[in-house]
Amino acid sequence: MGICLIACAILSWILIHRWSQRNNRGPKTWPLVEAAIEQLLNYDRMHDWLFKHLSQSKTVVVPMPFTTYTYIAVPANVEHVLKTNFANYPKGEAYHSYTEVLLGDGIFNVDVITETLRLNPAVPQDPKGILEDDVLPDGTRVKAEGMVTYMPYLMGRMEYNWGSDAASFKPERRLKDGVFQNASPFKFTAFQAGPRICLGKDSAYLQMKMALAILCRFFYFNLVPRHPVKYRMMTILSMEHGLKLNVNKRL
Ligand code: HEM
Repeated sequence: MGICLIACAILSWILIHRWSQRNNRGPKTWPLVEAAIEQLLNYDRMHDWLFKHLSQSKTVVVPMPFTTYTYIAVPANVEHVLKTNFANYPKGEAYHSYTEVLLGDGIFNVDVITETLRLNPAVPQDPKGILEDDVLPDGTRVKAEGMVTYMPYLMGRMEYNWGSDAASFKPERRLKDGVFQNASPFKFTAFQAGPRICLGKDSAYLQMKMALAILCRFFYFNLVPRHPVKYRMMTILSMEHGLKLNVNKRL
């Protein structure tokens, strides 16, 4: 008898719960598990499932046990989240852990890549011709038909540019409150700057991020002991003896 009563109470609870949301837009929920069942059933076709809901109500709120997922597709909402109130919408603990290898703490590990290029820029010196006599901002006079060379390799190592720890590899020097800060392209000159800045910069970053994320996800690398690390003098910064590494699979 007692069990029957409990079963009836639970059944009524479920029926009332389902009835009360008959006019609701968005995914229907069940007591306790909320919309988890519907979300799970549609996991493999998530975009189609949300397409249906977003077409009907523009913003879809999916209640889940202990939390709520809100899906937005209206440009004004997207601008609010991505710009107007940006500080209020960090990646979040859970997503940070899923994407850490790829994203790191900056945006896509740019801090590590940029610090590497500060110390080892692919173009270590970049000469320019001089058409007419000129005076540089520090008073240096340059003569027509001579040559002026800016030095990315050395600019990245100058204490007057980067502080007393200029020689140290410190990706975190680019982070301010956990967010990557771009240095002036006239100070970090690995890609040149001004009207003739490298056109492939974004593409190069994308390739480096992908290679770094995939290689570091599956392997770790150690320099072969006593291997001489030395650059070869040529237009691009290449290595006199290559870079010999021991490569091990991450377990
Ligand atoms: C880490 C990778 C790279 C570095 C450090 C780099 C650096 C540079 C530098 C210093 C220059 C100026 C050269 C000069 O005029 O004296 C330059 C120019 C250029 N780069 Fe890159 N580059 C990289 C990758 C790429 C990639 C992947 C592409 C193409 C997809 C690319 C396309 C170009 C082009 C088209 C220019 C000529 C721009 C112009 O003169 O107007 N670069 N790059």
